[in-house]
Amino acid sequence: MRGIELDVNGDRLETAAPDHWTLLEVLRYKLGLTGSKQGCDKGDCGACTVLVDGQPVLSCLTLAAQAVGKEITTVEGLRPMHLQSGGVGADPIQDAFDRCGALQCGFCQPGMMLSARALVAANASPSREEIQKALSGNLCRCTGYTQILEAVETAIAERVGAEA
Ligand code: FES
Repeated sequence: MRGIELDVNGDRLETAAPDHWTLLEVLRYKLGLTGSKQGCDKGDCGACTVLVDGQPVLSCLTLAAQAVGKEITTVEGLRPMHLQSGGVGADPIQDAFDRCGALQCGFCQPGMMLSARALVAANASPSREEIQKALSGNLCRCTGYTQILEAVETAIAERVGAEA
């Protein structure tokens, strides 16, 4: 067990964990940030996707120690419209997912939204093919891909790129 400090969603969080623990394990089981899902735990499903310095990474394949000194964003760092006073500061991707019904069981949603967030930060007007490619590492076990693509396109159409 060793002390570790991680910068998560704008806060510096301290905990202690074994050296071999993954970022996903520390987020979920030490820091209580359970939005990042533990699906396959071997890099196949994308449910554990978080952003590290703005890039999507599979937190189940990333040692927590590798994320020290980097800015980590989990789904808890996105801010849905219904939690904002007058909608101010809402995350457009999460808001579009909510409005488009881009979830069924919801298990894939955090990873999907973070992959989409990284895409629009890098490309303000991606094509549908580019969106599909960016989300190709995120599997939806309910196969709700149509609404997911529509949500990302809706957010983009609402000029999410300008805010990313
Ligand atoms: Fe990490 Fe499936 S839990 S890719």
